[in-house]
Amino acid sequence: MQVRPITREEHEQARRILSTAFISVRGEPNPEDNSWKQIRAAFEDGGDMAACVFDVPFVADLNGAMVGMCGIGGVASLPEYRRKGHVRAIMRLILADAYRRGDVLSTLYPFSFVYYRKFGYEVADALYEVNIPMTQMAHYKPFGSAREYVAGDDRAPYKAIYRQFAAGRNFACDRDDDQTGRSLWEGWLSDKHNSGKSREYIYLWRDDDQLPGAYAMVRPTGTGDEAAFEVYDYAWVSTRALRGLLGFLRLLEGQAPNIRIRLPEDLSPHTLFPEPYDLTVSCHPRGMVRLVNVGKGLETLGAPGLTGEMTIGVTDDMLPGNAGTWRVIFSDGKAMVEKTDATTEWTVPVGLLSQMVSGVISFEQAACLHDFAVDDDRAAWLNQVFPKRKRLLIERF
Ligand SMILES: CC(C)(COP(=O)(O)OP(=O)(O)OC[C@H]1O[C@@H](n2cnc3c(N)ncnc32)[C@H](O)[C@@H]1OP(=O)(O)O)[C@@H](O)C(=O)NCCC(=O)NCCS
Repeated sequence: MQVRPITREEHEQARRILSTAFISVRGEPNPEDNSWKQIRAAFEDGGDMAACVFDVPFVADLNGAMVGMCGIGGVASLPEYRRKGHVRAIMRLILADAYRRGDVLSTLYPFSFVYYRKFGYEVADALYEVNIPMTQMAHYKPFGSAREYVAGDDRAPYKAIYRQFAAGRNFACDRDDDQTGRSLWEGWLSDKHNSGKSREYIYLWRDDDQLPGAYAMVRPTGTGDEAAFEVYDYAWVSTRALRGLLGFLRLLEGQAPNIRIRLPEDLSPHTLFPEPYDLTVSCHPRGMVRLVNVGKGLETLGAPGLTGEMTIGVTDDMLPGNAGTWRVIFSDGKAMVEKTDATTEWTVPVGLLSQMVSGVISFEQAACLHDFAVDDDRAAWLNQVFPKRKRLLIERF
């Protein structure tokens, strides 16, 4: 088996694998489509391409540091070549490349959590899917003003609002990324947003003083009593702006009886409306994460006032550089990290450590899964090292 990046000439073979694996009809090739540059593939000894995976670089927040994040997408193999380790081999190549280019994280949206756990990934996030009847939205009184985005409008207010909203949320991506050489805003505010030419509507909300405070991207879904406006992307700069945005969205009541929105886990939806019984709320796991570079990941744990030392053993059969025992010394708001031969306090798989470092779970929650055998004082200190943190894994790839 050979595993490597593909050439432009091989793009059509990869597109064939993708359309077969995702049971979709592929369109005509587009000569301007350069996405082949992100594709890594495995070839059978006879030369046939058997499987492919996209390696999509991002820059994302991890505990206040903007770090390289390797997005994994388009994972596909042809049925006749499955269960032969092709995807595992490609994942090994992509993770090694990501490690070499300095990435700290990798994320993906799984079809099966069990499958990607084999490659060191663990559950990254959870979102509340909330259906809000307009009768509940009526709690929010309209104020300020709103305007629909039309292709060509100034994107600066959207960018500024997103930056404020995303700050302090792990996995939130830099959408104006000079380092990856592409603006993710192209996907969110595209030329198709031209009033009346698509069924997606984007609204910018301004406060009474005209300052931009929030935006929502909405599209209709469902019919009859189930009809709703689904809010598929949003951001706000303050709680007042959130109230202003909700006060505007309730004005859609004449067109649909519900608003549907996916909220981050930290925004308890039941507390936002007067009659929580009228809401339908379900919480779903979203995405998976792994540390590509354990040493750099641990360095992001330094925090003002945090002092002390710990040693952690890590197992990682995809990236040997991560495996072993790590010593972390906290002082002056920083975390000094080194590999050590010292005895380890405990050993965890890289997936669990990734969840703890990125605050998907706190130390206390991790202790429900794993016996760390530490006393209460040590557990309280480790809870300061590994608190639960806000997250936002919403980028499309
Ligand atoms: C999922 C898919 C990519 C797996 O491809 P594959 O070529 O069989 O993958 P590999 O042979 O490299 O499998 C790696 C490991 O996962 C296991 N595995 C394969 N398919 C699995 C599945 N559906 N569920 C759980 N484990 C699976 C293999 O047994 C192997 O385990 P091992 O390394 O411990 O022996 C392929 O079935 C596919 O294209 N499916 C349709 C498209 C899809 O759903 N893609 C994922 C989008 S997120």
